[in-house]
Amino acid sequence: MIRKNVLLVVCCSGVIGLGLVGLAQQSAQKPVPPTATEAPAGFNTPTLSKHPGSRSVSNGIPEPPNDTFALDQANFEEREGNDTGLGPVHNATICADCHQNAGTGGPSQITEVRAGHLDANGNFVNPTIVINHGKDTITGRSIINDRAICPQAEEHLPPTENIRTLRAALNTLGDGFVEAIDDQTLIDIAAEQPKQSNGMINGETVEVAILEAPGQTRVGRFGWKDQHGSILSFSADAYLNEVGISNRLKPVDVTTVCKTTKDPEDTADETGLFGIDHFAQFIRGTLVPPRDPVLVGDPEVKAGEKLFAQVKCSVCHVRTIITAPPGTVIDGGTFTIPDALGSKIIHPFSDFLLHDVGTGDGIVQGGPQDTQHKLRTAALWGLRTKSRFMHDLKSESFAAAILRHQGEAADSISQFKQLTPYERGELFKFLSSL
Ligand code: HEC
Ligand code: HEC
Repeated sequence: MIRKNVLLVVCCSGVIGLGLVGLAQQSAQKPVPPTATEAPAGFNTPTLSKHPGSRSVSNGIPEPPNDTFALDQANFEEREGNDTGLGPVHNATICADCHQNAGTGGPSQITEVRAGHLDANGNFVNPTIVINHGKDTITGRSIINDRAICPQAEEHLPPTENIRTLRAALNTLGDGFVEAIDDQTLIDIAAEQPKQSNGMINGETVEVAILEAPGQTRVGRFGWKDQHGSILSFSADAYLNEVGISNRLKPVDVTTVCKTTKDPEDTADETGLFGIDHFAQFIRGTLVPPRDPVLVGDPEVKAGEKLFAQVKCSVCHVRTIITAPPGTVIDGGTFTIPDALGSKIIHPFSDFLLHDVGTGDGIVQGGPQDTQHKLRTAALWGLRTKSRFMHDLKSESFAAAILRHQGEAADSISQFKQLTPYERGELFKFLSSL
């Protein structure tokens, strides 16, 4: 939580349309309503060491009294220390340590560890991690933190926790628009998929808890396992489990070993907002990742995009989704979609559904046991900012990432393999324009 009282210059509020108006193609699922407009696109959150956020441009969402988009971004970037509640166990010192590429909020090469084991019935069970020379244990979560504020709090995986995976940090730019997708839109996409694929592709929706609306659920769309449906919920979870800052939605630290601060560590600033509110406000205010302006009109890129649909990549990597209209109340009654996010046309190249494409990591988070080997379709917007791919970043080229798809994607991949080398080149060029 930053408490600086500097006056941050608010630049260029309002929407700038660097988007790709004109490229809108009808979604396979639903016709585009005439009132919907393209979401603004752009990498417009430069990471500045002086006057953080001061040159950033938001999508125009209303800011709470006395708050600015720049202050929201500054909170997302300002490092925590032992004195503000960092840890005891943590992965990094603030959100932007991992969500920073082509500006603050993008994806990065940082991976983290998740682990667990199966019980006698084959159900996934979270790990039990013994720390502090056997005196304390950490339970109830699959994440294993790589750092701690003192050596005795460091987490080490015992051999019995034999399901292990790496998870790459995801992009958060444009996620306000993803949050604004109606549950029913995702359910409808899932219902269409078997018809488009001779029954092979069956995206799964999972209902997940909204932390800020106790007892309420929503279709999950954030995280590799769709473990959250609200940006505020994700922010609270990340503040605790990545940075070790307990907060009003996740009020208790995972261990007290070496702890010097009192729970909850996230406190309100002079605007009355907590750190988690600023993070959510920042993410909700970002523009969607833009297409490459040089490549977007290239004839080979356009041909590649046709092939992408022809070989059925687009059944999962859905090109166009429309957000719910402004005024729609979501997140268990706690958030009303503003004009800036409602009735917007986005091109995430994802269905935000869970699929078994043969790479599933064995972990269950939020969803039922049948999601063990499923992962959320990676959103391909902003793909050109990445150099390694898939949930574990173990694929170093488009070809390697594509050929790793099996399971529900097997038919699509065998059609991809039948493309000529020239056609594959066009498909790759299309991917590098995203
Ligand atoms: C150590 C690196 C790290 C830090 C620090 C971190 N994250 Fe993340 N973030 C990740 C990873 C990894 C994922 C994917 C998680 C998963 O599904 O396993 C992720 C996913 C997300 C997502 C979901 C994006 C999507 O489209 O699905 C949001 C939102 C998010 N983080 C917000 C935050 C916020 C807010 C903070 C600061 C409180 C933060 N993160 C701190 C690594 C990090
Ligand atoms: C059945 C649904 C499905 C189909 C069909 C599908 N994908 Fe995927 N795709 C996924 C899922 C799920 C992931 C994430 C897998 C992982 O991380 O292990 C993914 C990941 C990717 C990635 C990595 C993105 C990143 O940021 O790491 C690329 C590139 C990709 N797919 C391209 C394609 C292409 C090209 C096709 C068609 C030849 C295709 N996909 C067909 C579901 C699908």
